[in-house]
Amino acid sequence: MPLGKRIDPEEIKQMARAMEEQAARPGTPQPEADSSPAYTLFQEEKPRYSFADIIMNRDTYEAIQDVLALYEKRQLLFDEWGLGQTHRKQNCAGINLYGPSGTGKSMAAHAIANQLGRMILTVDYSKIESKYVGETAKNLVAMFDYAKESGAVIFFDEADALLSRRVTNMSNSTDVSVNQTRSTLLVLINEYNDLILYATNFVTNYDPAFIRRILSHVKFELPDEENRRRLWSMYIPKTLPTDADIPGLAAKYGGITGADISNAVLNASLRAARKEETTVAHAYFEEAVERIIRSKTDNADLGTMTSKRVVSEEYVKSQFGGGLPE
Ligand SMILES: Nc1ncnc2c1ncn2[C@@H]1O[C@H](COP(=O)(O)OP(=O)(O)OP(=O)(O)O)[C@@H](O)[C@H]1O
Ligand SMILES: [Mg+2]
Repeated sequence: MPLGKRIDPEEIKQMARAMEEQAARPGTPQPEADSSPAYTLFQEEKPRYSFADIIMNRDTYEAIQDVLALYEKRQLLFDEWGLGQTHRKQNCAGINLYGPSGTGKSMAAHAIANQLGRMILTVDYSKIESKYVGETAKNLVAMFDYAKESGAVIFFDEADALLSRRVTNMSNSTDVSVNQTRSTLLVLINEYNDLILYATNFVTNYDPAFIRRILSHVKFELPDEENRRRLWSMYIPKTLPTDADIPGLAAKYGGITGADISNAVLNASLRAARKEETTVAHAYFEEAVERIIRSKTDNADLGTMTSKRVVSEEYVKSQFGGGLPE
């Protein structure tokens, strides 16, 4: 569906109807009579983080702030500078936060909502898509309606499956329903006049229709030495009795994330507490971080952990237990 095409609201209803018809067909799995999926598929909450909690590169921070100017400098941009004439639809913006696991993307989504003084509505799209045929479109419509009413910022967390290309060789009803769900979603996104956040790891197979609707792709990098030092300082409490050499840890161990550093501090402290020692020795931090690095390498070697992150048509299909397309 090309951008700029006027959206007929009937279109959404038709899609939802088509999906309901399909759901009614014999052999299609039916939801439990008393299930209320809409409430388990998205969750509204007060943002849990602010930018002060996140150690990030200047560039990453600046790129996010640029998009937020769309909301914070509306009058200047659209009225005084006249962008209202040329960019009429531009109060709907998508920001895709992408990069390796554990680098602070979900935190940043919360920080964005927090800066805008809004609640956050987190959606796990992979759960929505694997729900029963027909329910899916209803849930999506309900979710967007809810966001419009409540004013919460929509956040598609783990949106890899959403942003990957739609199934092109449709061989069974599952494929058809996956595509119908995604078409419904495209229409809803098109009609939506507000900010939508996405967080993804590595999308190998972007769907251009979704990508076009994202104003800004913001990359999250692994922390460099300076940021690792800041992360170690942040996650080792001032009150922790320890002889840890923070600059030494930051210099020695690269290729790790904020999440790894946070875990290493906890693991080192657990060991000292269990052994009833009075301080958390520097060596325990080294051992903890080395264990984390080793486990990552082992998992990468097995290939099973990484396949969860490389998302493609096959991934979308595998969610339904279908065969791989060829
Ligand atoms: N840049 C950071 N600054 C401070 N803490 C961080 C940072 N990155 C990660 N952390 C720590 O790691 C935890 C996980 O971060 P978060 O959930 O934001 O990662 P993510 O990038 O969304 O990962 P995933 O792709 O696996 O969802 C945080 O709760 C925090 O404790
Ligand atoms: Mg996340």
